[in-house]
Amino acid sequence: MTLKLGVNIDHVATLREARRATRPDPLDAGAIALSAGADYVVVHLRKDQRHINQKDVAALCKLFPKQIHLECSCSEFCQKAALKCKPHSVCIVPELPGEITTTGGLKFTPIVQRQLFKMIDQLHKKNIKVSLFVDPCAADLRMAAKLGADIVELCTAAYSQAKTMPLRKKCLQELALSALLAKELGLEVHAGHGLDYHNVLAVADIGEFSCMNIGFAIIARSLFTGLPSAVEEMKNLL
Ligand code: PXP
Repeated sequence: MTLKLGVNIDHVATLREARRATRPDPLDAGAIALSAGADYVVVHLRKDQRHINQKDVAALCKLFPKQIHLECSCSEFCQKAALKCKPHSVCIVPELPGEITTTGGLKFTPIVQRQLFKMIDQLHKKNIKVSLFVDPCAADLRMAAKLGADIVELCTAAYSQAKTMPLRKKCLQELALSALLAKELGLEVHAGHGLDYHNVLAVADIGEFSCMNIGFAIIARSLFTGLPSAVEEMKNLL
């Protein structure tokens, strides 16, 4: 199985919004990433639309209907945007006010379970595949399967932030066990958050993942090497 690459282009929009300008345009970034070998273009539509906005999502989905992977929270705002734009797939993530980036997987409280169940059902009715962003934890994977998700994206934040070798090893073991369980549960397994050119191989080597979603490291490198080369380098590593 070939390992796919989803390139998150949120930070192209972050740069645009730093000047409330029209460029750099995420549409250009999406086209370049795909022609350089990315399998998916990933965008996170936050409720405050601080980088990617609804217009971006609509334009990207129109241009690349089979390659947009939309990250969004379990909320009416995001559900409406997703049903209107019809991306290839949606990854539901937790979203906390004021956070710099997503801080971990979904917390499956009874209220969240009910909301997720409804949102997943609505997205499925439009033939949109649904991924849930989860921590590498057996109970959460079982819950994702029970709620009807097609995919789980395992949060690699703890692994990517691990400061010692024993901790890094423990995080990798958790990711490997979780990926195996997810597959046994019939789920497709992705990974993402904090992955870069140095730490991605150990996760890829686990062998159970079908897609890695990577943003910050690729966009940061592209400032010095150009986006095509930053994407190609990551794709070649995988
Ligand atoms: N996957 C999910 C669910 C995310 O929320 C993010 C950050 O937007 C990423 C992957 C990409 O993380 P990074 O920018 O650290 O590569």
